[in-house]
Amino acid sequence: MSSETENSEQSSRVLAKWLIGGLVIGASVMGFQIFQQKKKKKRPIRVYMDGCFDMMHYGHCNALRQARALGDQLVVGVVSDAEIIANKGPPVTPLNERMIMVSAVKWVDEVISDAPYAITENFMRKLFDEYNIDYIIHGDDPCILPDGSDAYALAKKVGRYKQIKRTEGVSSTDIVGRMLLCVRERSTGDSHNHSSLQRQFSHGHSPKSEAGGSGSETRISHFLPTSRRIVQFSNGKGPGPDARVVYMDGAFDLFHAGHVEILRLARGLGDFLLVGIHTDQTVSSKRGAHRPIMNLHERSLSVLACRYVDEVIIGAPLGVSKDTITTFNISLVVHGTVAEDNDFQKERDNPYAVPISMGIFELLESPLDITTSTIIRRIVSNHEAFQKRNEKKGESERRYYEDKAFVSGD
Ligand SMILES: *[C@@H]1O[C@H](CO)[C@@H](O)[C@H](O)[C@H]1NC(C)=O
Ligand SMILES: *[C@@H]1O[C@H](CO)[C@@H](O)[C@H](O)[C@H]1NC(C)=O
Repeated sequence: MSSETENSEQSSRVLAKWLIGGLVIGASVMGFQIFQQKKKKKRPIRVYMDGCFDMMHYGHCNALRQARALGDQLVVGVVSDAEIIANKGPPVTPLNERMIMVSAVKWVDEVISDAPYAITENFMRKLFDEYNIDYIIHGDDPCILPDGSDAYALAKKVGRYKQIKRTEGVSSTDIVGRMLLCVRERSTGDSHNHSSLQRQFSHGHSPKSEAGGSGSETRISHFLPTSRRIVQFSNGKGPGPDARVVYMDGAFDLFHAGHVEILRLARGLGDFLLVGIHTDQTVSSKRGAHRPIMNLHERSLSVLACRYVDEVIIGAPLGVSKDTITTFNISLVVHGTVAEDNDFQKERDNPYAVPISMGIFELLESPLDITTSTIIRRIVSNHEAFQKRNEKKGESERRYYEDKAFVSGD
């Protein structure tokens, strides 16, 4: 072979490579354009879910998370106070607070404030036509209208109904039961027995009803915290480079609109909000054996579901130490003006002594005057109504657990 042909072979090989390279680039540019067009043309899938969201808890949040995973945008319908009163008695949480709670859930894209209690055909058409909803989502518990028909029949008929698995382990009825128990025990001064009852509650053993009550206090917690649930609720991201980390700690028991609003303010003061959740023991030692109503894992999930929160410490110590500040590179420690333990400034062991001495502590004006005690007081003032409602609902809860079978999904 002459060196000349060798050279031309080489150069043709180079040319071929160059051509192939160009083709590949050309194809991928075309592919990208097709992808872009598809993306532009493809309308996001909008899904809808409704509820009362009275005494919102991580079970609601988990349902919203699952609903969101069935589409691209989640629209949530919140039932009005009047509709709740007409259908099941006065809500504990007024509409404005329920709207704050639902809007703060990180999987929610839009909120509608006038959802009917039981979905009507008219409203369903409005969802499809005005709100461009593709699918209506509901849990796997049946929703029966007063006339005995399936509330979602229309959506099912037109193939626009999707189902999610019910989150076990918690329900508003369950939480009200825990609170009523706490109130009853306090009124009889039987606090020792209460704390043992509460312990049984959180470990899933059915306590014997010592008060001989209606049975609502014998409800057990079915909550089994799994690592997967925590992961599902987490953002999975640490602070970015140069991020200003804000720290706020507390009990966050019965997570409410007051918590949401102060977390929103706290998040606005930096780039990353780290929330320290106190252990059950810490909360009990500060607020009595009847607290917390929700255990550490339940409280952590509620806080994690909040869009203003970037990360939580599950079981934070009371008091912010130099070590905590260094470990998490905390730039600012905040605390709200409305809290149950704002006598801390008088205490000898001020939990914020270190950040105060470092000049990185700020007391934030709480936007709402609500504490966990406010929520408990509201329930106590509605004691009778709730107890009746509880007994009725408790019966159907019991039936659910008796009849339950394995359902796959998350
Ligand atoms: C719990 O209550 C019962 C009576 O209801 C009483 O006999 C018992 O001593 C109490 N236990 C504690 C630890 O207080
Ligand atoms: C620590 O936080 C400050 C902001 O307060 C930031 O500038 C700095 O980069 C952070 N340090 C690291 C190592 O991320």
